[in-house]
Amino acid sequence: MTNNVVKTAVVTGASSGIGAATVRTLTTEGWKVFALARREERLASLAAETGCTPVVADITDEDSTTAAVRTILAAGPVKALVNCAGGAVGKDPVATANLDDWRAMYELNVLGTLRITQKLLPALKESAGSVLVISSTAGIEPYEGGAGYCASKFAERVMARVLRLEMIGEPIRVIDIAPGMVKTDEFSVKRFHGDESKAAAVYAGVPDPLKAEDIAECVRWALDQPDTVDVDSIVVRPRAEGSYTKVFRNA
Ligand SMILES: NC(=O)c1ccc[n+]([C@@H]2O[C@H](COP(=O)([O-])OP(=O)(O)OC[C@H]3O[C@@H](n4cnc5c(N)ncnc54)[C@H](OP(=O)(O)O)[C@@H]3O)[C@@H](O)[C@H]2O)c1
Repeated sequence: MTNNVVKTAVVTGASSGIGAATVRTLTTEGWKVFALARREERLASLAAETGCTPVVADITDEDSTTAAVRTILAAGPVKALVNCAGGAVGKDPVATANLDDWRAMYELNVLGTLRITQKLLPALKESAGSVLVISSTAGIEPYEGGAGYCASKFAERVMARVLRLEMIGEPIRVIDIAPGMVKTDEFSVKRFHGDESKAAAVYAGVPDPLKAEDIAECVRWALDQPDTVDVDSIVVRPRAEGSYTKVFRNA
């Protein structure tokens, strides 16, 4: 099957940030999109704006994910899964890190991604499709205070790499997009448990952090390559960011 026969994508984490931007970009480019997240109202307004199909589901919950996948597959073939649901919780040192924060990141970033990927994999193979993960540069270079998030993102990247190895010979692509600093409305606020000033400090003085739309464009480009071209990995950062700890800031 060639690229344009079925252009149906499932985007998780679609109710905000990079996921919502990806839904906007893909629908503009003619993709039919199932937009999955937990917050129904946000998905409803995104659906009104873009024509996407909202799927209210929690990927940390087995029954919820099973029901979502059943609904999606009942509508026909699926060409791409964009695993965008994820996030950071806390930024404490290892010595004092909160186990519940780590557990939440593992449940969502690692096991949630695994859960929905497993369930859609057979359908994706049938349509010569793609599994795409939005991992992070946190999955490449660890930083102080980031052990829990970094470990979960290392795991997500390893999952993608190993899946690609295991799928060699099968008609499926596995794509990893690892962004650096992306200024989205909720990511850092959630990381700091609602502390807006700590969240704002992450981006303070940085001339041009990446926007959610920049990552959405990477997703679109990677998916739009021919079926036989697997964009193994994209690492994308703002020009002002050399690494997590080397960021240019205006005084
Ligand atoms: N922002 C950055 O600097 C950055 C950099 C590198 C990588 N990333 C990665 O990019 C992805 C998106 O980040 P973002 O900045 O767009 O963050 P965001 O705005 O907080 O988006 C996270 C999304 O995940 C959804 N979600 C959370 N828990 C879920 C669950 N249990 N089931 C289904 N959906 C769930 C949220 O929606 P609901 O709450 O409605 O479910 C939301 O739509 C994450 O994987 C993040 O780790 C972000």
